[in-house]
Formats: sequence, structure tokens, C-alpha cells
Amino acid sequence: STDLAGLLAAKIRDVPDYPKPGVVFKDIAPLLADAEAFAALVDHLAARAKALGASKIVGLEARGFILAAPAAYAAGAGFVPVRKEGKLPGDCYREAYDLEYGSAVIEVQTDAFLPGERVLVVDDVLATGGTVEAALSLIARAGAELAGVEVLMELGFLDGRARLAPLLGDAPLETVISI
Ligand code: PRP
Ligand code: MG
Repeated sequence: STDLAGLLAAKIRDVPDYPKPGVVFKDIAPLLADAEAFAALVDHLAARAKALGASKIVGLEARGFILAAPAAYAAGAGFVPVRKEGKLPGDCYREAYDLEYGSAVIEVQTDAFLPGERVLVVDDVLATGGTVEAALSLIARAGAELAGVEVLMELGFLDGRARLAPLLGDAPLETVISI
């Protein structure tokens, strides 16, 4: 709702020229530190997980973990980490994605999901969409079904939504705050 967006937006801090000149960093630390705002966000994510019938919530390292794990607990769902390269033991699917400079790799364990299990992806910020795009590929390869993608904040001018549209099928991409 608009009330939720307003409550949360008021707790996100713009940090100019971080991590480099010309970039405005969206710092969610004040939101996380505010008991009311943090609970409202986690409750919202958990409610969406239930409504979408997700039995697992996937968090994207690192900031996605902070939101996805408590949401999974509150929804009565399991939590699955998508991690940056080399952090998960055993057999993993790997997916490379582009960063502003260079590229990175994220991974998920091959046995993370039951066949056809419905999963919700959670992250803090949707910028270019590269991170979520790579995560969706991992989820598909791991045999799960996408229930939806929930992101706290969407940076609309970077067009991540358009990039993800072909990969979503019937699953919604929902963001609490759009700027
Ligand atoms: C940030 C943010 C998103 C991603 C969005 O993560 O938390 O995960 O970038 O950007 P994109 O849509 O262009 O892919 P980052 O890789 O900086 O790492 P962190 O979560 O570990 O801080
Ligand atoms: Mg991140």
C-alpha cells in the first residue's frame, strides 16, 4: 500500500558519491534499524509469499538475505540462499552476470528445491536487473517454479523491469517503492 511505501521510503537514506563519484547509494540501514519499519516490510513480504503460494523464499546475497530469511520464517516457508561464487559446498548451478565493471557469478545448490516447488525471490534493490535475472536462471535450472519476485525498491530509470519481463511468465514482479 501507499502507507507502507511512505513508511519505508522515509527510512531509506541517500548517500551521494558512494561507492563512487556520481552514484547515489540507497542505504537501507535506517529502515532495518527501525523496529516498526523493519517489521512492516518483513510482514509484507511474508504475506506476499503466502498469497503467491511459495513454499521457499530465495534471498540474494547479501542484502537480500536480511529480508528473505525473516520473511521465510514469518510465512512458514523455507529459506534458500543464492550466494556469490565459491561460498556454497557441494554441487551448485552457476550463473554469470554483468556488473557495471566486469562480471560476477552467483550459485545455488542443485538440491535446494523440490521438483516444481514454488519459490519467491526477495532482494532489496532492483537496478539493472542483472542480479535477479541470473537468480531466475538458477531457479529454473534447479527445477523450481517461480511464484514471484519481491523487491523493496526499484530504480525505474535503469529499466530492470523490462529486462526481466521475458523471464517472469505468469509470476509478478512487485516492488514496494518505485523511483
Ligand atoms: C546490489 C543490490 C541488488 C543488486 C541490484 O547488490 O543489493 O542485489 O545490487 O543491482 P542490479 O539490479 O543491477 O543487478 P550488490 O551486488 O551490490 O551486493 P550486496 O547485496 O552483497 O551488497
Ligand atoms: Mg545485493
